Amino acid sequence: MTKTRNMRICCRSLAAVLAASMAMPGLAGAQSAWPAAKPVTMIVPFAAGGPTDVIARRYAEFISRDIGQSVVVENVAGAGGTTGSARAAKAAPDGYTIQIGQAGTHVSAVGLFKKLPYDPVNDYEHLGLAGDLPQVLIVKKDLPVNSFKEFVDYIKTNGEKMNIGTAGPGSSSHMGASMLNLRLGSKAALVQYRGTGPAMNDLVAGQIEAMVEVSLTATPQIQAGTVKPLAVFRTARVASLPDVPSTDEFGVPGLDFAVWAGFLAPKGTPKDIVDKLNTSIRKANVDKSLRDTMTPLGVEAPDDAKNTPAGFRDFIKAEIDRWVPLMRSAGMQLN
Ligand code: MLT
Repeated sequence: MTKTRNMRICCRSLAAVLAASMAMPGLAGAQSAWPAAKPVTMIVPFAAGGPTDVIARRYAEFISRDIGQSVVVENVAGAGGTTGSARAAKAAPDGYTIQIGQAGTHVSAVGLFKKLPYDPVNDYEHLGLAGDLPQVLIVKKDLPVNSFKEFVDYIKTNGEKMNIGTAGPGSSSHMGASMLNLRLGSKAALVQYRGTGPAMNDLVAGQIEAMVEVSLTATPQIQAGTVKPLAVFRTARVASLPDVPSTDEFGVPGLDFAVWAGFLAPKGTPKDIVDKLNTSIRKANVDKSLRDTMTPLGVEAPDDAKNTPAGFRDFIKAEIDRWVPLMRSAGMQLN
C-alpha cells in the first residue's frame, strides 16, 4: 500500500516535470513538439503578386504539407523589403516565424542603405535557398523601341522623361535599374513601389516606361504580349526566354545581378527546427510538380550539396563581399 502510494507520488511528479518541460522553451520536449502548437508565419517583405510572393506561396504550400502544419504567408511590405526582413530578424526564435529573403533584401540593401536594421549574416539562421532567377529588361508595349540597342539610344536622349518601376530602395529591381542607369550613363527616374507586383500593373497599364524584373513574373506578361522584353541581364541567353538576347550580346557586360531567393529564421531558432526546415526546402527544390511550375519561368534550382544552413550562410556572405564594394565604388549608396 505504502509502496503503491509512493509510486503514485513518483509518477505524478514525473508527469508534472514532463508537462513543465513541454511548456518551457529551449527544453527538449518543447523543441520536439514543433510545429504542433500553432501555424508557422512566413513573412514576405514585398507586396503580393511579385516574384518573392509567388515563390513564398508555392514553398509555403509544400512545407506545410511536409511538416504537417499550416504555413501562413504574411506580406509585410515597405522600404524595399527591409521592413519585413527586420521584423523577421527580431521575431521570437521559436520556429513559428520565418521569412523569405532574396538578393535585394539580403545583399544589395547592405550596399544601398547606410545602415540596415538587420545583419543578413549574423541575425538569422539560414534555412536554405530556393533558386536563382535572371533579370529581364521589359518595357511598355508602345515604347518606340524594339531592341536593347534601340533602347540604349532612346534612354540616352529621353532618359530624364522616363520612369523605371522598382520594388523600393535596396530591392533587386532597384539594383538592376540603378546598374542600368549607371552603365548607360542615363538618368531615368526610379519609381519606388512596395513590390514589383504593383509596379508591373503600372507597366502593363503604360503608366511607367520600363522595369528590370525577374523572369518568374516577367515571362507570363511577355508571353501575353502585354510588355516587350529587350534583354536578359546575363552573360548568355537563358533557356526559359531563348528569343531574348543577353546584355552581353550588345557589348554591355556586368549587369548580371543574380536574384536568388531563400528562407531565413531569427537567430537562435533551435537547430532541430532549422534542420527540419532545411530538409523540407531541399525536398521542395526537387519536387516534380514544383519544378514544373518554376523551371519554365526561369527559376534555376540551387546546388543541393551546398544548400545546408552553413552553405547558404556562406553564400550570402560571399555575395555581400562581392557586390557591396562594387556598389560603394560606383557611388550607389542612398542618403
Ligand atoms: C525585387 O525587386 O527585389 C523583387 O522583385 C520584389 C518583389 O518580389 O516584389
